[in-house]
Amino acid sequence: MKEDKDLSETPAFKYCRESRVFKTGRVFPNDVNNHKTLFGGKLMSGIDEVASISAMRHCRANVVTASADSVDFLLPIRPTDSVCFESFVTWTGRTSIEVFVKVISEHLYTGERAVAATSFLTFVAVGEDGVPLPVPNIIPETVEEKLMNQSAEERAELRKVRRAMSKKLASQLNTSKYWEQNSPIQ
Ligand SMILES: CC(C)(COP(=O)(O)OP(=O)(O)OC[C@H]1O[C@@H](n2cnc3c(N)ncnc32)[C@H](O)[C@@H]1OP(=O)(O)O)[C@@H](O)C(=O)NCCC(=O)NCCS
Repeated sequence: MKEDKDLSETPAFKYCRESRVFKTGRVFPNDVNNHKTLFGGKLMSGIDEVASISAMRHCRANVVTASADSVDFLLPIRPTDSVCFESFVTWTGRTSIEVFVKVISEHLYTGERAVAATSFLTFVAVGEDGVPLPVPNIIPETVEEKLMNQSAEERAELRKVRRAMSKKLASQLNTSKYWEQNSPIQ
């Protein structure tokens, strides 16, 4: 299958619902930390996985994760819970796609459900050459979709500031091997 994108096929807009992804799983003994709650890295991996599917459903092209604003672990998830990852596209720039992920835990004995974690990630659509590609605009319909969409511009501005700060910080870091002679870190 040809992986590069014919831009003439890109629609002007898509609905949030077209990118919705749901994935429910169990918490197995290998997935927990010393407190017997879901390991943070496992949760983050699940978040990145569903979010990338949402982003690709939106643009029907390859995407790379540009950033994850935050992962807020609101409640512990235990082996007696199921864990459902739900994601959808909330906002788009020219080539970037913001995806919101909501993680819902459900106690399997009582049926009690709670939002255990939330996250916003940004993906960039890229062609085979790695160059960013334009993406369709997004149309929110539900109350939750509109809520996320209305607050997105503000998050995008904060991201720009953070990106500039990260670049500045990276330019001040060294990459030398500290164990080598004449390393600046002595
Ligand atoms: C993300 C990446 C493609 C951006 O490429 P670039 O040449 O810097 O492109 P630009 O500066 O033109 O930015 C392209 C878009 O990405 C957005 N972007 C770039 N870095 C970003 C960041 N850290 N957070 C959020 N958005 C970001 C820009 O705002 C721009 O969005 P817009 O077109 O909607 O306005 C590039 O930095 C990259 O490849 N990073 C590594 C990605 C990666 O390896 N991810 C993990 C594995 S998938």
